[in-house]
Amino acid sequence: MQINSIEAYELAYQKSVEKPEQFWGEIAQSFHWRKPWFKVLSWNFRDPEIKWFEGAKLNITENCLDRHLAAHADKAAIIWEPNDPEQDSITLTYKMLHERVCRFANVLKRNGAKKGDRICIYMPMVPELAIAVLACARIGAVHSVVFGGFSAKSIADRINDAACKLVVTADGAYRGNKKIELKEVIDDALIGCPTVEKVIVLTHTRTPVSMLKGRDVWWEDEVKHVNDVCEAEEMDAEDLLFILYTSGSTGKPKGVVHTCGGYMVYAGYTFSNVFNYQPGEVYFCTADIGWITGHSYIIYGPLSQGATSVIFEGIPTYPDASRFWQVVDKHQVNILYTAPTAIRSLMSYGDEPLKNAGLESLRVLGSVGEPINEEAWHWFDEKIGKGNCPIVDTWWQTETGGIMISPIANVTKTKPSYATLPLPGIQPCLVDENGQEIIGNGVSGNLCIKFPWPGMLRTTYGDHERCRQTYFSAYPDMYFTGDGCLRDEDGYYRITGRVDDVINVSGHRIGTAEVENAINMHAGVVESAVVGFPHEVKGQGIFAFVIYPEHHADEELTRKDILQTVTRMIGAIAKPDKILFVSGLPKTRSGKIMRRILRKIAEGDMTNLGDTSTLLDPAVVTEIIDRAQKK
Ligand code: WTA
Repeated sequence: MQINSIEAYELAYQKSVEKPEQFWGEIAQSFHWRKPWFKVLSWNFRDPEIKWFEGAKLNITENCLDRHLAAHADKAAIIWEPNDPEQDSITLTYKMLHERVCRFANVLKRNGAKKGDRICIYMPMVPELAIAVLACARIGAVHSVVFGGFSAKSIADRINDAACKLVVTADGAYRGNKKIELKEVIDDALIGCPTVEKVIVLTHTRTPVSMLKGRDVWWEDEVKHVNDVCEAEEMDAEDLLFILYTSGSTGKPKGVVHTCGGYMVYAGYTFSNVFNYQPGEVYFCTADIGWITGHSYIIYGPLSQGATSVIFEGIPTYPDASRFWQVVDKHQVNILYTAPTAIRSLMSYGDEPLKNAGLESLRVLGSVGEPINEEAWHWFDEKIGKGNCPIVDTWWQTETGGIMISPIANVTKTKPSYATLPLPGIQPCLVDENGQEIIGNGVSGNLCIKFPWPGMLRTTYGDHERCRQTYFSAYPDMYFTGDGCLRDEDGYYRITGRVDDVINVSGHRIGTAEVENAINMHAGVVESAVVGFPHEVKGQGIFAFVIYPEHHADEELTRKDILQTVTRMIGAIAKPDKILFVSGLPKTRSGKIMRRILRKIAEGDMTNLGDTSTLLDPAVVTEIIDRAQKK
């Protein structure tokens, strides 16, 4: 199923459009199914209702583990590189991983988990995180992984939205020279989570933790009570595999739902093709498993293809900015998949950290999460790839389940800052504000997808109408991505960024409404408006305009207080980079905040504010500019 030439790509693409069912049906043959499907696809984007591989039965862990045992039991499935470079790394072969997943699956059962139950996972980047994820899938429980940087309140909201029955966590996590008390955060979260019956706690940092009798149990104790035989639960192709929460332009984060069959096929197919993975190669994705990239391209994609996947606990700059390159050399990494924000951050340290880096093992480089600027692209290409490694700039989303628009390594001619061409099976189109498709090349518009693909979201958990509204109502019969995009003369796609109220901070999606809600919770704040602004390392930063009349206090202290409130309500990742106190916000006569103007001010572009005549009180703008310039 690997595409090895541009002609083969074109043929595959054409077939995927003309005969999509045949195309995907053939690809799906390379996976292990307990029972075949009777229909490859039935769909409509109105409701929406999307079913792939209807009637088929499978378990994704049989594809990620069991099927590799006959020939590759002793091949490395996971190589774990700890935060501390002095500590030994750990290799888990497919056989070992299989045993541990089965054993932990039995622990989940022993603690009351059944098929269909939702399980929240809040863990550091350790092998046990992958084990917990796969153990859920093994027994048909639905995992909801929450990134370690979210606050107790965010976790509680996610747990309650999905009515999770179990939580799997650890005492703590290491991140560079910081230690994070995960269990304590969970304890705070669970005060407001009546559905949680059991918490399984892994020992990692051995920080003192409180263990509640009857609710909390130690991972290490539990695994002693069970064996490592666990038959995989037979799942329907459209049964839920996982929920992953992501931010949108309105209100609270939504639980994006992925199902077993289509997601597996799509994650596996795209992994194998985009990175041109060859048997025996070591693949390193630097994302956190708490995000979709980690789900699809640390766990499910690579393991379904029998690959060796590196899990790195630490950060790129600890103990110093050569850490990524040390990990690459130490484990002889062939494929490195990372984010523009990491590249820009490492770039800023100059050549010194590269002094002792060999990097000869590298063959393919990948980028994901946000637009990659040309400077970062060239640095990555020259300094890391030594001009010899294709860079695959992969555009996709939590909702798409896998990579959508991307070069195929060694096949597609790359072009800096372009995600290039749609993968086979993906039918992108650009749409103007009236919902008309824009035909031809050398054009730009809002990016939509016209036809279903196996990895696409099926619903938003517990609220199907929200799914319809968010993705399928803006343009009839199309999935709307929320991204702006241009298609150049060669038909190459370049993603220009979000066109909705989502900010992409270091590749993390943050809804402006969410941050505003958090700021507004702070005592004394009357109102706030949040916009993104260009940030050298993070891609985008968060700029908050805050109406806070009580200026008696120390402004700097108030600023810190507000940051503390945001950290509590969402997590440190949503802290504004800049806060400007103002006495009013630019609003239209109907009361809508004109973010366009605020964006300009946040960018420091005070001259091109556009038409302000529809504002209720244009004087507000003058005042805001004044304050912004004084700062
Ligand atoms: C952005 C991450 C430009 C985009 C996999 C998208 C990108 C959002 C790229 C999804 C890329 C992701 N070039 N922009 N290669 N990849 N994006 O859900 O705005 O965390 O809508 O999924 O990131 O973020 P998410």
